[in-house]
Amino acid sequence: MKIICATDYADMSRKAANILSAQVIMKPNCVLGLATGGTPVGTYRQLIEWYNKGDVDFSEVTTVNLDEYRGILKDNPQSYWYFMHKNFFDFVNIAPERVHVPDGANLDADAACKEYDAVIHQVGGIDLQLLGIGPDGHIGFNEPNAAFELGTHCVDLTESTIEANTRFFEKKEDVPHQAYTMGIKSIMQARKVLMVANGANKADIVKTAFFGPVTPEVPASILQMHPDFTLVLDAEAAAKL
Ligand code: F6R
Repeated sequence: MKIICATDYADMSRKAANILSAQVIMKPNCVLGLATGGTPVGTYRQLIEWYNKGDVDFSEVTTVNLDEYRGILKDNPQSYWYFMHKNFFDFVNIAPERVHVPDGANLDADAACKEYDAVIHQVGGIDLQLLGIGPDGHIGFNEPNAAFELGTHCVDLTESTIEANTRFFEKKEDVPHQAYTMGIKSIMQARKVLMVANGANKADIVKTAFFGPVTPEVPASILQMHPDFTLVLDAEAAAKL
């Protein structure tokens, strides 16, 4: 595990974007695993800036996103498909046919998850997986006590995740209660993993997950065992280390 301490959110975003763009420069046809949430938005913004300057080219890149709500259409502004397009894909030269997000519109959970695992397999696995971390240690939608050995699967969201995601919806009742997510196994099989975390509300979980025991109660703690895991923190998230 490598920890990189940044000063603030902008610095964290720039450092994470540097690692992602190095990956794309070293392997232009790489597979990037991407995340939604507030934390990586600055990273995407920085990548867009460098793309506009001609410093990074996504024309051969394939992407696989971590997760998507179940029962939501792509064009729903709350879908992760929509989020990724509005925060990143619409502004760079990623080929639409190489963009993959679990199919939230497919209510057949088994089929949707199997299909997504097949996609990850077909593209040759993930070269670099970007992650955020939930206040309870979730990664993707792998909530506390998720099994470590699962691939893509359907999860019931916990009350705390529904609560945390309410900020993106008009009202709490609109937050879906289920999602399709890559499993811990899918994440651990990525050749490299990069996590970004910022803000004082992540300081406790960063300490627990990466300086405490590896346990399903804290899903992110398994990343301590990953052979190529980089954690980029701003000063607030690193404050308790
Ligand atoms: C996003 C995801 C989530 C978030 C986590 C942190 O695709 O799967 O695990 O990474 O909830 O979210 P933020 O960045 O909003 O604190």
